[in-house]
Formats: sequence, C-alpha cells, structure tokens
Amino acid sequence: MADSPSSNGSTVRSLVLIAVVVIVLIAAFAFTAGWLSPARLTPARLVNALAPPNGPALGFRRNHAKGICFTGSFESNGAAADLSKAPMLAQGSYPVTGRFNLGTPDPKAPDATVRVRGLSLRIVAPDGSEWRTAMINPPFFPVATPQAFYGLLKASGDKTDPDAMKNFIAAHPEFGHFAQWAGSAPWTGSFAQERYNSLNSFIFTNAAGQDQAVRWSFVPAAQPEAVSVDQLKARGDDFLDADITQRVHSAPQRWTLVVTVANPGDPTADPSQAWPDDRRKVQAGTLVVNTIESEPDGPCRDLNFDPTVLPSGMRVSDDPFPAARSAAYAVSFNRRTAEEKDYPRHPAGGDTQ
Ligand code: HEM
Repeated sequence: MADSPSSNGSTVRSLVLIAVVVIVLIAAFAFTAGWLSPARLTPARLVNALAPPNGPALGFRRNHAKGICFTGSFESNGAAADLSKAPMLAQGSYPVTGRFNLGTPDPKAPDATVRVRGLSLRIVAPDGSEWRTAMINPPFFPVATPQAFYGLLKASGDKTDPDAMKNFIAAHPEFGHFAQWAGSAPWTGSFAQERYNSLNSFIFTNAAGQDQAVRWSFVPAAQPEAVSVDQLKARGDDFLDADITQRVHSAPQRWTLVVTVANPGDPTADPSQAWPDDRRKVQAGTLVVNTIESEPDGPCRDLNFDPTVLPSGMRVSDDPFPAARSAAYAVSFNRRTAEEKDYPRHPAGGDTQ
C-alpha cells in the first residue's frame, strides 16, 4: 500500500529534525574546539603553542617535561589553620607525592639551559581531599594573563617575523622584569636549594567563614649556593637529578611552607606583580622529601598537578591563570597518557634509580 501524503510529510519532518540536531551538535563541537573562531584562545591552542619546532616529545608533559618523582610528607604545625580550614593545614602529618621539574617542553634539555625550575605537590588529607600545586622558582610570572602567555609562546617561536619578540616586549613591559630576573638572579646547583612560589593567588577560608587572599611559597632549608652557568654546564646534562637523588639518599630534604597574606588592594589577578615584601607571612609547616623515584616508573608520572584541585578552605581567586592552567594541563595529560608507548615504563637497561 502506498504511503499517504500525511505520513510522507511526517517522515520528511522527522528527517529535517534529525538533520537539525546533527548540525547543531557539529556546530557546538566546532565552537568548543575553536574551529569557528581562529582567534579564540582554546586549551588545545595553548598546548600546541608550547611545542618546539620539531614537535612535542610524545608521551611527556607538554611543558615542564623533564622531571623526577619523589614521596614524602607535609608536617603541618597548624599555624595557618586560622587562615584556612583545609584539613592538611591542621596540625598533623600528611602524605605527599611530588615532582621536581624543569620549565621546558624538551625532556632531554640539558639542565644548565633551563632557567625555570619547578616543584609540584599533591598533599592528601585523611578524608581523601587533595591540595595540588605546581610552583616555580621565579618571584613573579613573565606575563599578566593567559592570553599574553600565548602571545609570548607565539612570538618566541615566530620564524617569519624577526621583530616578533621586540614587539611583544614593547606591548608587555612586565616581561622586562622577568628578563631582568632571568639574567641576574643567581643559579644554584640543586633542586634542594630553590624556593618555589605559587605566584597565582588563591582564597583561603577559615572555620568562621572569613576569606583571605593568599599566595604561598616553599622555602628551602638548604642554603642556596650561587653557581655560574658555565660551572653547571660542566656538571653534565642531568646533574640536577643526580644531585637530588644523592642528597635525599643521605638525608631527608626540607622546605618551609610560607603563606603570604594579601593586604586589601594587592593585585590578585596578575601573577606578574609580586606583592610588597612586608606582607604578613605565616610559616605553616615543613615539606619533607624522603624518597626519589625516576619518572618512567615513578608515582608522579601519571599525575596531573592541576592547580585547581583544592581542599575545602581553599579556592581560586580572580586570578585567571589557574582555570587556564587546569584546562591546558588536562589536554597535555590526555595526550601524554594516550602516548604511553612512546615513553616506555621501563627505561633501557632497567634502570629504575
Ligand atoms: C596559561 C599559562 C600556563 C600554561 C598554558 C601552562 C602549561 C603547562 C602544561 C601543558 C604543563 C604540563 C601538564 C601535564 O602534562 O601534566 C605544565 C606543567 C607545569 N607548569 Fe604550567 N602552564 C601555565 C602557567 C604556569 C604557572 C603560572 C606556573 C607556576 C606558577 C606553572 C608551573 C608549572 C609546573 C611546575 C609544571 C609541572 C607540573 C608537573 O610536574 O606535572 N605553569 N604547564
């Protein structure tokens, strides 16, 4: 029996509806992926911009690719409990998984060629909540916004325009302060002698519900000793891993957690601006590093030190970086964990250090 005109009409309507749904879904996907807006900054574009000219090192973090794992504890003295009700700021001992690292997308970069050194921590409370933080040794960030960070990556990798960096610096004077720090601050020969800074601002909330903007740093117990870059080059490409392995083997290494409390009006949305030195500081406890483990088989390998993973009593502020970092780190994490075969778990020779 032939279809009636009305059932033909309803079939057409159904097909049109399905087509509309499919088109809307494709458009939503394309929008989210940034295909419709080549100028919009997406997490994938940020991560792509980190890649060196010959492409990323597959299987590795897309930035801070060179690193080594450790385990230890955070010994909280309770002094910051007035600022935040975070469980790991109450007096006690909390397990830590961490990573010392270098600010480069190249996991084989010689240590003496990388200016920025990092410390990443996951501190776990008895209730299972976590404080993840990834800090670096400069006292301020090179740029004020994630958009400017993208601009810096594009300008520094631009082979077509010889003035790209000059123009970038002219438009972003804060980068000059960073270049000054990078050119004049002493280098040390050890991860153990570095001070690591959150640079980003966060909000602490105490048990009474009071909010307070803060930044934090881990200040080394080991006295920093200045070493020239030429001397560091002479120590070989991987002297930092050898040094920290040997130090931790001899004795646990320690850092003091210093929480810096903002005064009203201090810039919280811009990590390129350090707060004045006289701000209130609270020594909240000690990070103790007990064991070093090489990355390929180590406990930090498949961790994402996402700076927005925070316990109750801590939250992000109006600083735009943590959210941008969280999205970019997820892209990097997803890519690198899907490339496991390119970064074998058992290094040649079975050296698990
Ligand atoms: C928009 C700005 C930034 C972008 C796009 C970015 C991007 C990245 C990416 C893709 C990774 C690798 C993540 C992974 O695979 O797990 C990474 C790691 C890291 N970043 Fe950033 N980053 C930014 C800002 C910062 C800032 C402000 C700091 C410090 C204050 C920082 C410190 C670190 C550290 C220490 C690591 C190593 C983390 C680890 O050990 O897994 N980054 N970054």
